[in-house]
Amino acid sequence: MVVAKRLSLPVLSLFAIALCITSAGATIIDITNKCSFTVWAAAVPGGGKQLNQNETWALEVASNTTGGRVWARTNCTFDASGVGQCQTGDCGGVLECQPNVTVTTPYTLAEYALDQYNGMDFYDISLVDGFNVPIKLGPVANGTRSINCTYDINSDCPNELKVAGGCNDACTVFKTDQYCCTNSTTTCEPTDYSKFFKERCPDAYTYPMDDATSTFSCPGNTNYTVIFCP
Ligand SMILES: *[C@@H]1O[C@H](CO)[C@@H](O)[C@H](O)[C@H]1NC(C)=O
Ligand SMILES: *[C@@H]1O[C@H](CO)[C@@H](O)[C@H](O)[C@H]1NC(C)=O
Ligand SMILES: *[C@@H]1O[C@H](CO)[C@@H](O)[C@H](O)[C@H]1NC(C)=O
Ligand SMILES: *[C@@H]1O[C@H](CO)[C@@H](O)[C@H](O)[C@H]1NC(C)=O
Ligand SMILES: *[C@@H]1O[C@H](CO)[C@@H](O)[C@H](O)[C@H]1NC(C)=O
Ligand SMILES: *[C@@H]1O[C@H](CO)[C@@H](O)[C@H](O)[C@H]1NC(C)=O
Ligand SMILES: *[C@@H]1O[C@H](CO)[C@@H](O)[C@H](O)[C@H]1NC(C)=O
Ligand SMILES: *[C@@H]1O[C@H](CO)[C@@H](O)[C@H](O)[C@H]1NC(C)=O
Repeated sequence: MVVAKRLSLPVLSLFAIALCITSAGATIIDITNKCSFTVWAAAVPGGGKQLNQNETWALEVASNTTGGRVWARTNCTFDASGVGQCQTGDCGGVLECQPNVTVTTPYTLAEYALDQYNGMDFYDISLVDGFNVPIKLGPVANGTRSINCTYDINSDCPNELKVAGGCNDACTVFKTDQYCCTNSTTTCEPTDYSKFFKERCPDAYTYPMDDATSTFSCPGNTNYTVIFCP
């Protein structure tokens, strides 16, 4: 059930070092739960927060954050000290997710890297770790594109991928090179399973080497919104 995190965003930090001369301020990521049920939002950096229906978490991160991740956890129970567990998206049994933690699949993931190549922000939605809730991610201001995965993939998830609260990715279930893309000497191709996800959510990364059309960008110093069940 638990697999290592597979990051989809290209590594652009060398360009960032070369081009980022301005000092980084704060970027606001408004995370809103429009699901009919409570979710426990998770963010690295950021930690975590219980969001009842229609509640928003105004998360502040440095405007040069890299490796940023936001996802929803479902069916959680935490005690007063923030220790417990979630049915999907659990981050080591704590409310406040830590950067080095392994997250329990499946979970729909929003990823971002701010102030990178040419000072641009990059973001994507990844289904490489499966799907739990629909998600939308985009800039607050007009001009650049919002992306989403609004299809309820749980409703027609193949039986072999189906788990309580979500739909697993094929790597988690079958653990083969073909699905996990772990053989560094070969490039991996879409599979019937990754195509199943891509047909339902064309904006999303659906396998570890999904093409660059799954990454989107905005000028730096943009604020963002993430909506669960948009
Ligand atoms: C990000 O900005 C902070 C200042 O807010 C700076 O100290 C840090 O070195 C920057 N990091 C990168 C990778 O540019
Ligand atoms: C959340 O917002 C929607 C749309 O505005 C509304 O229909 C619903 O009643 C709200 N739910 C709660 C719990 O406030
Ligand atoms: C993750 O980082 C925290 C805080 O630095 C540390 O307490 C914990 O042991 C680390 N966990 C792992 C699995 O490395
Ligand atoms: C975006 O543009 C539309 C149409 O021009 C406008 O109604 C809306 O207020 C704008 N939103 C923001 C956040 O600027
Ligand atoms: C999701 O993205 C598609 C394609 O860009 C768009 O047609 C649709 O309106 C978007 N849905 C929402 C809820 O933003
Ligand atoms: C939470 O778990 C219950 C019992 O297994 C299930 O009926 C419900 O659909 C789950 N809720 C979510 C949001 O996954
Ligand atoms: C990686 O793929 C190559 C070419 O298909 C194959 O020869 C090799 O055995 C594979 N390596 C592993 C570790 O599976
Ligand atoms: C981002 O949001 C913060 C807080 O609302 C605001 O002060 C700042 O001006 C916003 N940045 C942009 C570029 O709109």
